[in-house]
Amino acid sequence: MYALECYGCGTTYDINDKRWKCDCGSFLNIKSDIKFEISLIDNKSSGLWRYRRFIPIFNNESVITYGEGYTPIVQEEVYDKKVYLKLDYMFPSGSYKDRGSTVLLSKIKELGIDNVVEDSSGNAGASVAMYSAKAGVKADIYVPESTSKGKLVQVEAFGANLVLVKGDREATTNAVMSAAKEKYYASHVWNPFFFEGTKTFIYEIFEQLGNKLPENIVMPVGNGTLLIGAYIACKELLKSGYIDKFPKFYCVQSENCAPLLEVLEGNYCEYSETIAEGIAIKKPLRLNQMAEIITETGGTVVTVSDSDVKSALKEIMKKGYFIEPTSASVIAALKDIDVRESAVVELTGVGLKATEKIGEIIKKH
Ligand SMILES: Cc1ncc(COP(=O)(O)O)c(C=O)c1O
Ligand SMILES: [Zn+2]
Repeated sequence: MYALECYGCGTTYDINDKRWKCDCGSFLNIKSDIKFEISLIDNKSSGLWRYRRFIPIFNNESVITYGEGYTPIVQEEVYDKKVYLKLDYMFPSGSYKDRGSTVLLSKIKELGIDNVVEDSSGNAGASVAMYSAKAGVKADIYVPESTSKGKLVQVEAFGANLVLVKGDREATTNAVMSAAKEKYYASHVWNPFFFEGTKTFIYEIFEQLGNKLPENIVMPVGNGTLLIGAYIACKELLKSGYIDKFPKFYCVQSENCAPLLEVLEGNYCEYSETIAEGIAIKKPLRLNQMAEIITETGGTVVTVSDSDVKSALKEIMKKGYFIEPTSASVIAALKDIDVRESAVVELTGVGLKATEKIGEIIKKH
């Protein structure tokens, strides 16, 4: 049983309805009775499509995949803390966004849509462009002008139409919204199928740690595609009794842009630019949903300064992990949090797209 369900007014729509929002204007979630079941994992598949039975794509011919997922998990000592690093920067497009895109573009193929628009701070755009190439879908990708060059090159290399927008991330969203009146909005934020892909990182951690979850999961949060995916997957694990509580979600935001802290604790945040470009989302669409998840599951928000992100990036690169600045925010957060019990830290984006910015950090910091 599947349906699209409005977050705002509760109206439900057929799961195959070609809509990306409710008539009332709010965003949609997927209502389902999916339960995680170890015996239903497809062990012949070495990537995330081993969880095929828990992903709401109905026809096998619709699946658009590069064999992505099941990324390594390694033990590491960072700031004197023993943690597991989940290497989610090891994806075909260089970021964990491929988890969401493989499912989203599969759904788009299943719906017979061949023209889409998407907006992003870079990584999601590059990822959607890559999967669109395989699906034979024409994609217009809107990104802020300030985006790392590596991400822009990627979008164009995959044959998508790159639209550069002046101003911040919000200006980009405004620009795409008018384009989305005519074309299907393959948004990693609005479209709930994206979260059916991002949720798989939790399944992987569960398997990799011997069929259990850690006490703590540390992840970067901007629009919340990881946080919401984590919540969905943990609910599915709870439903089938494999876990009896949620891990603690440590949601990392930049000190310069921390809307979650504002909504949860009333701390006013003066917004300014940050080196963590991927989480610089002033007004995330799903802010209230994210705050509810954090409250319900006993999670917390940690903010990090740009200068801490820069030193964390240097620290982790010296150990051989070449990640982008946004991705180092979780390492910076480790300084301030008590993770004596097991913790998995999500590394989300590869450094190769941001070599200029990383070069500056190595020199100046
Ligand atoms: C490398 C990286 N990490 C984390 C995030 C944050 O993801 P979200 O905005 O879905 O919370 C992004 C988003 O673009 C990203 O590019
Ligand atoms: Zn509605």
